Amino acid sequence: MADLEAEKALAALRAVDEVESGMLVGLGTGSTAVYAIRELGRRVARGLTITAVATSNASDALARQVGMNVLSFEDVAEVDVTIDGADEITPGLTAIKGGGGALLREKVVAAASRRVIIIVDSSKPVATLGKFKLPLEVIPFAISWVKSAVACLGVTPEVRVRNGVPFRTDQANFILDLPFESIADPQRLALALDAIPGVVEHGLFLNEIDAAVIARGSEVEVINRQT
Ligand code: 5RP
Repeated sequence: MADLEAEKALAALRAVDEVESGMLVGLGTGSTAVYAIRELGRRVARGLTITAVATSNASDALARQVGMNVLSFEDVAEVDVTIDGADEITPGLTAIKGGGGALLREKVVAAASRRVIIIVDSSKPVATLGKFKLPLEVIPFAISWVKSAVACLGVTPEVRVRNGVPFRTDQANFILDLPFESIADPQRLALALDAIPGVVEHGLFLNEIDAAVIARGSEVEVINRQT
């Protein structure tokens, strides 16, 4: 059986090797990104001089804890490289993100990044997106309307719940999880979701990712976007 934690650590290590002194680094969110943040912290302690922006309050707090100089993204327009996890990723570098509820900030930081590297263990690569429920960030005011609008796309949305109450993102929004099982046309679905007022963002990352680092056992595969 695969040691997924070891794979996450290995993928993180490989991606962090791309970070050089002087860079502004985007920090992803989730259990795989934690390995990258901790490794960056170790390298900062050994003399790597970087600044960082975080895609969630949790990653911000961890980065500060491990000694990183974290800027507010409000003051940043361009990021050199972002290292983040994913819930599913295809060989064509499309992905579902948002399992940790940080998809909005993750997509904004990815859009601002010159290079986005996704780090994953061997459970994440898929041929077709959709087995993982697609997260949708929705403003609370619009939750009932968005649920009915999404139902017209042929899926029954589930309000994400944590500790018995609806989960709130760092922006205090709700998450709807959409159990498509298989998404035949992600581009078309993305357009349909973007067109629903009240939807802040969806977890389909179709053009943002430049590279994927996939760990399988002790092997690491790097897929770069073809330009
Ligand atoms: C958070 C994310 C995460 O990157 C994604 O959920 C993967 O998390 P993990 O590394 O814990 O499996 O998109 O919003």
